[in-house]
Amino acid sequence: MERRALEHATASAPGKIILFGEHAVVYGKPAIAVPVTQVQATATVSPGPVGCGLILHLPDVGERLAVAEAPPEHPLAHVCRLAARLLALQPLPDWVLTLRSTIPIASGLGSGAAAATALVRALARATGTPMPATQVAALVYESEILYHGTPSGIDNTVIAYEQPVWFVRNQPPAPFPIQRPFVVLIADTGLASPTSTTVGDVRSGWQADPRRYEALFERVGQLVYAARQAIELGNIGALGPLMDENHQLLAAMGVSCRELNVLQRTAKDAGALGAKLSGGGRGGNLIALPPEDEGDIGRIAAALRRSGAVSVLASTIGA
Ligand code: PMV
Repeated sequence: MERRALEHATASAPGKIILFGEHAVVYGKPAIAVPVTQVQATATVSPGPVGCGLILHLPDVGERLAVAEAPPEHPLAHVCRLAARLLALQPLPDWVLTLRSTIPIASGLGSGAAAATALVRALARATGTPMPATQVAALVYESEILYHGTPSGIDNTVIAYEQPVWFVRNQPPAPFPIQRPFVVLIADTGLASPTSTTVGDVRSGWQADPRRYEALFERVGQLVYAARQAIELGNIGALGPLMDENHQLLAAMGVSCRELNVLQRTAKDAGALGAKLSGGGRGGNLIALPPEDEGDIGRIAAALRRSGAVSVLASTIGA
């Protein structure tokens, strides 16, 4: 490929939340995930000194490394190598790829997948190569394997497509129109919790007692179908009890924690229609569904902050 003279290229990717179905999705059940655009990872390509090769600069975590020399298990260097190969960037160009992100790490908002998506998009843009969402999602999945071990593929899919998705492992994602936009509050416990740990613990639990875990996954699957129907009918209030039950099922799988349970109770006591943990669990974020009134949203957000949430975002789903 003829390499174009590089100016600068920038690309971003949003965070995400899982509305319903995390963990059970690893075992073939459906899940619903939506992008969260208030938080973003942004990658910028700029020319580097002659002979520097492709440099990955991660100022948020104080890292700067040569992509060619990074360990094979470094998820972001790995995805850069794969993207560079696909884009025929061989030998690696003298570029500095800088990543900044406002997505809290290890908190269920898809920080790793968003970072990898932004990097892949920035490299594609720098070479003037359009890259469809399917291809971006497939590349990012490779970095998710290094982050998570056995990812279902939901994070890379919802983030690369940037739209609500109905996701079933090993099936193409289905477009999922939201009839009536609705607000969810996203409350951060401030506890970082690697998804690989909770996914691994659920796997151990399932191996030790497959019947119990399969019953939990089965019930989660039923809730996800019920949630899809409610969203398609615009019957948003019906999501509340489904969220509460999904939270209890996740707690029964062993992936909740005291802080998440306190926030869940707080949201309910302050008037939320429903609330559940979102993502890997044992930290990260709780999502709560407020009634439609603005006053309720403010009151629930304030109660969540008082109960220990380090931040509370209001995100409109389907807008
Ligand atoms: O990346 P997180 O923490 O939002 O979790 C991803 C969802 C899981 O179902 C827990 C794991 C997976 O790969 O689907």
